[in-house]
Amino acid sequence: MVTTSAPGKVILLGEHAVVFGQPAIALAIDMRLRCHVHAHSAYYLNGAPLSERTHPYVHYALSHHWNGTPLALETHSDIPSGSGMGSSAAVSTSVLAALAVLGKRGIDAEDMARKAFDVESSVQGRASPIDTSTSAHGKGIFIDRRPGEGLLWHVQRDSREWFIHHCEVPELSLVVGYTGIHAPTGPLVAKVKRFVDHTTFARDIVQEIGGLVLEGMRCLRTGDQVALGRLMTRDHKLLAILGVSHPSLDKLVYASLPYSFGAKLTGAGGGGSMIALTDRPDKVAEAIKMKGGLPMIVRTGAAGVRLDKE
Ligand code: MEV
Repeated sequence: MVTTSAPGKVILLGEHAVVFGQPAIALAIDMRLRCHVHAHSAYYLNGAPLSERTHPYVHYALSHHWNGTPLALETHSDIPSGSGMGSSAAVSTSVLAALAVLGKRGIDAEDMARKAFDVESSVQGRASPIDTSTSAHGKGIFIDRRPGEGLLWHVQRDSREWFIHHCEVPELSLVVGYTGIHAPTGPLVAKVKRFVDHTTFARDIVQEIGGLVLEGMRCLRTGDQVALGRLMTRDHKLLAILGVSHPSLDKLVYASLPYSFGAKLTGAGGGGSMIALTDRPDKVAEAIKMKGGLPMIVRTGAAGVRLDKE
């Protein structure tokens, strides 16, 4: 029996724009998905025969990255699925890590990030490597259009390229508010692409989000949480113009703002979750709960994909 685990994530700034090659910042959080794997007579996941329709990520990972004997897998997750907190990336990286250990190759973060990006883009359609690289590396990542200090790896797809860097993250107090609305990423990414393909207005917004991210990196370096929060709230408004917010997300964002430096949706939007950067986490959590959201006070700096037990 092999047990691996991988963290979920929050995107501090830059979701959606990153799909077009713009910069972004994401942080691994202390909510993990654990995967137990052992040899079996047929492929099983959580006690049921493995099915492509219900388990597309695991099915793709096994069919393209495993040529050994059948396996039974069990997953246990702290990360609600479709919550915008990277549950599908955590499934992909932890399953791939278990396959690497069983195949006697050992876990290499870059290899996991590349393979998990392959899984994610094949299942989801269009994607950026942000969720999968964060789940593989852990801690924090900064994606830029060019290589710089702390470069981890470089990913290319059609004409888009992403330089993935380690991002040093100061202690931040973040509250996630989950709307309870399951929002699959693929259709939201496709909706933004249609908007960007047809209007220069949307292309300008994508560029403006990229600019906010570069400013956000400067705030992280100087520890200016007030300015960082302002950028997050601005990013939320731009994402709303791109059409990926949801009334329940707006409600949680605006309820958090009186007690926060800033707040925004995180991940694909359309439901899912928002995050608030705050020095009053209990007040923010209460405000989120009052508006019907599920608050979670998260810790950043979590370790990337790893072997827990062999
Ligand atoms: C989803 O967590 C982040 C998106 O930017 C999609 C992606 O980058 O693949 C919405």
